[in-house]
Amino acid sequence: MENQNENPNLKGILVGCGFMGGMHAQIYKILEGVDLVAAVDGRIEESRAKLEELGCPVPVFETLAEAMQSAECDFVDVCLPTYLHEEYAVEALTAGKALFCEKPLALSVESADRILGAAEASGAFAQVGQCIRFWPEYQRLMRFHADGEGGRLLSLNLTRRAGRPSYGIDNWLNDESQSGGAALDLHVHDTDFVLALLGPPRGLTSRVTRDYSGPSHVFSIFDYDKVTVTSEGGWNYPDKWGFQMAFQAVFENAVLDYDSSNGKGLRICQGDEEPRALDVTQTDAGESKSGEGNVSDLGGYFNELKYFTDCLRDGAPPEIATLLDARESLAWTLREIELGEEAAQRS
Ligand SMILES: NC(=O)c1ccc[n+]([C@@H]2O[C@H](COP(=O)([O-])OP(=O)(O)OC[C@H]3O[C@@H](n4cnc5c(N)ncnc54)[C@H](O)[C@@H]3O)[C@@H](O)[C@H]2O)c1
Repeated sequence: MENQNENPNLKGILVGCGFMGGMHAQIYKILEGVDLVAAVDGRIEESRAKLEELGCPVPVFETLAEAMQSAECDFVDVCLPTYLHEEYAVEALTAGKALFCEKPLALSVESADRILGAAEASGAFAQVGQCIRFWPEYQRLMRFHADGEGGRLLSLNLTRRAGRPSYGIDNWLNDESQSGGAALDLHVHDTDFVLALLGPPRGLTSRVTRDYSGPSHVFSIFDYDKVTVTSEGGWNYPDKWGFQMAFQAVFENAVLDYDSSNGKGLRICQGDEEPRALDVTQTDAGESKSGEGNVSDLGGYFNELKYFTDCLRDGAPPEIATLLDARESLAWTLREIELGEEAAQRS
């Protein structure tokens, strides 16, 4: 094993060098005080070439055990297809390594609970890539809501739509047994955000479109005390349709609008004023060069990985996007699917 004792930087092993792994690799390259020391992927040669091209030339191994043997590391970052998260997350935690695991945490609550159990047994820190909690426009909405700047929140509408994802290696995204369909892969982001903003709802109604890839479009209403939230997400769009994430938050004295596809940024409209831009603290981490996928701006991902590695350095457990948060987002999204299917059977 390499002696890296003289290097005080945090050291990480990246597991999975596809679309998201490439995004994370680019972020580790610019994150101060953090070094990627090895990577793991079944496609060794392609991954090696890709990491080199992205400016992160680290050795690539076939297994996590080999990678952990090759170099000391503080954390493991799992960017594998979702059905593999549990296996690698548990292996990393059991070896005493801190864990960053991409979202959704798992495909079932039972699988998520086994990851939580491994974290509890080892005492290692963990965070999940529920990145919308770190996305500048959504963070600004959370702050606007918490500060009561616009009065009471009356309603919130969230949308996440994407062209059919054809970029996953071996088309795993379109296989429900591997990805959980658009419900778990895409829509879970907004369910997670609703829970972060307002906590568990007192009521939930859902409808779901199903196709060969599983639950491919979800339409839900979350009921809160005097607040209604509608949330819609799916990938039943042609390949080239593009990507849109959007929200509209209606407060007593203001409306906040964001639509990633219109280029206007986060806007506020109040009283008899024209809509105007609302100040948002952006992180300029650049654009990803990690191949196809529906998002290329690295800002939100930079924010989450900076928070994670800052927590590790400070010896403080991450309090945002925890394993428990991700378990709850998964459980509520699975409930949306179940309610949608019950409704389909009744009709
Ligand atoms: N947070 C976000 O916004 C966001 C966006 C996209 C993807 N994701 C998540 O990231 C994860 C990875 O998705 P992706 O788009 O990068 O997928 P991908 O198909 O682009 O990459 C997956 C990688 O894993 C490797 N791999 C597959 N099986 C393996 C195995 N058994 N052992 C070792 N390596 C293996 C593949 O070779 C590939 O390089 C998923 O959980 C996905 O939901 C999150």
